[in-house]
Amino acid sequence: MKKLVVGNWKMNGSIESLSEIETLATRHHDSTIDILICVPAPYLVPAKQIAGSLYIGAQDCHTASQGAYTGDVSAYMLSDISASHVIIGHSERRAAHNETNTLVREKALIAQLADLCPIICIGETLSERENEHTLSVIHEQLIGSLDPNLNSSSFVIAYEPVWAIGTGLVPSETEIEEVHGFCRQYLLEQFGNSAEYIQILYGGSVKGSNAERIFALQNVDGALVGSASLLADDFSVIIEALENV
Ligand code: PGA
Repeated sequence: MKKLVVGNWKMNGSIESLSEIETLATRHHDSTIDILICVPAPYLVPAKQIAGSLYIGAQDCHTASQGAYTGDVSAYMLSDISASHVIIGHSERRAAHNETNTLVREKALIAQLADLCPIICIGETLSERENEHTLSVIHEQLIGSLDPNLNSSSFVIAYEPVWAIGTGLVPSETEIEEVHGFCRQYLLEQFGNSAEYIQILYGGSVKGSNAERIFALQNVDGALVGSASLLADDFSVIIEALENV
């Protein structure tokens, strides 16, 4: 399976900072892994123009294909401008926009129908981890967020513990492997043997300093990276760590 590293710019960046993507495109034009940058919607088109062999993706889409939804963007529009992927159900959207598993499930399905690859995010909160509910929460999110009609050849799972995002905290290696192994097992049961090839990414405070250690773990097929993806020099270290696995 090809490895995948995703930069999630969140609501950061500017026309000027798109030069970071240009730098990455030049530096990693013949990479052995897939490199994707998910930029804010206004920058999708200019980012695509300079991305070379890097993929450009979005951070959310609506469940409808078009209509009276002021301020929203449809999966078909993202596909129309040649975005390849869309992040769905990031914990920041689950929390700030009340996105439920059901909504995530609908968004992921329409993203696939529009020829985008959804990156479906799951992860427990700190209190859920402390109360030893991690696997049951993950199980519930997988059941609720993955429609059985999804095509297993084109979606990605991102395990992102909510408490690890933007905090500098990272679960132990055993904890990451436990959740990733649990996800793989669930995917195999639901989607059959082809689920071996579904990329399961880890996200939450991935940095140049810990990437190599995280990428060595079983069933970790790449990463979803927030703040360390904003500058080409920081992100390159993570890209190279995944290339060298
Ligand atoms: P972080 O964010 O790498 O800044 O922790 C990850 C994410 O939210 O996708």
